[in-house]
Amino acid sequence: MAAIGRVVSSSGRFFSPNILRISISRFLKTSSNCRTVMPAWVIDKYGNNDVLRFTKNAIFPIINYPNEVIVKVFAAGLNPMDIHMRGGHGAATMSMKRDPLNMNQAGSEFPLILGREVSGVIMECGLDVKYFKEKDEVWASIPPWKRGSLAEFVVLSANEVSLKPKSLSHTEAAAMPYVANTAWSALVNTGGLTKENCAKKRVLILGGSGGVGTFAIQMLKAWGAHVTVTCAKNAERLVTGLGADHVVDYTAGPVQVPLAALDKFDLILDNIGGSTEHWALNLLKPWSGAKYVTLVTPFLQNTDALGIADGMMQTAATVASRALKHLAKGVHYRWGFFAPSGPALDEIREMVDAGQIHAVVEETFNFTQVPQAFAKVEKGHARGKTVVQISNGGT
Ligand SMILES: NC(=O)c1ccc[n+]([C@@H]2O[C@H](COP(=O)([O-])OP(=O)(O)OC[C@H]3O[C@@H](n4cnc5c(N)ncnc54)[C@H](OP(=O)(O)O)[C@@H]3O)[C@@H](O)[C@H]2O)c1
Repeated sequence: MAAIGRVVSSSGRFFSPNILRISISRFLKTSSNCRTVMPAWVIDKYGNNDVLRFTKNAIFPIINYPNEVIVKVFAAGLNPMDIHMRGGHGAATMSMKRDPLNMNQAGSEFPLILGREVSGVIMECGLDVKYFKEKDEVWASIPPWKRGSLAEFVVLSANEVSLKPKSLSHTEAAAMPYVANTAWSALVNTGGLTKENCAKKRVLILGGSGGVGTFAIQMLKAWGAHVTVTCAKNAERLVTGLGADHVVDYTAGPVQVPLAALDKFDLILDNIGGSTEHWALNLLKPWSGAKYVTLVTPFLQNTDALGIADGMMQTAATVASRALKHLAKGVHYRWGFFAPSGPALDEIREMVDAGQIHAVVEETFNFTQVPQAFAKVEKGHARGKTVVQISNGGT
């Protein structure tokens, strides 16, 4: 067998770069009880909720790389991303990233399994996985180019997976990994905040009542930041209960007016986008390293419309011109993206088990009710997360 490079992280995790396919690994480590099919919700084409189809015959996942694990899914969190993916948004980029092993014989991604968050137990480990063992309870967020968690089993790279917080049920745990990895990527990797430098920083979250916002408020408060949040009047109690120091009701009139009367901010996390970009950067402290990080970007829209090469060029040109324009005014303009990361979830687990971060589950559905769960997320006005319980372990 070919030698495989390894990196050991500070937490003792072993990563094998996911570039070397060991096709014989499936024979070295056979999939659980040799099953070939499993129950799942799939789509066979992009569209509205009608394209969701339940099947008992989805292909059972197998370990194709030695650093992969198979997880038995107890609960799956849903996000606006699942609605976008169901409609085909981002299909061009996902097709480029998708492993040919996750395509059908005609080279198509269908049948596609959605669901970007999972909590469950490890059923099987690839030969190179040292950090996990069978029966470990784990949580993870799933890259959008991989098969998702609305199924009985899912296969993931071990470096995307983390041991589940002991203090959370599987349903609660499934409500967090995607929004936690997104908030972490936006606030830490892009925004430069850490638990060491966050104390007393003034942070504004535009759109604090949804999945990302309810997580971000809690993480920033755990790190000592002063957090201002915009949300609708009927979400004020929710965000204040999560620790928000100051709440501004965006339904009461142009929200930039009351926000402009406040002290300026060190960082803005924008979960809303659109016209917010026209005024939000004026709320930052100029010439102090203050940053605006938006999660609402035209990246996938550009690659869908223009193709990968032109879409990426257009994206690079847009972000560079906006960043330069704002840099001239002394503030930093950035785009934030979801980034799956087991090590980030390891750190978040500690905060959860220390009681600093709580799951905010708005509604749960069972496995037969996946279309209803999608309809709920699609309606918007989220107050936390929507979770599907896949098996009895998900309670
Ligand atoms: N770039 C990435 O990789 C990435 C990753 C994750 C998420 N995202 C994007 O980030 C955004 C937030 O994600 P999410 O999961 O938190 O969405 P979500 O759960 O649907 O929450 C959005 C929240 O914003 C509130 N809202 C709507 N309009 C508002 C406004 N003008 N001002 C303040 N609050 C408003 C909504 O409630 P009301 O309508 O009742 O006010 C809802 O609570 C979405 O657009 C999502 O697509 C991007």
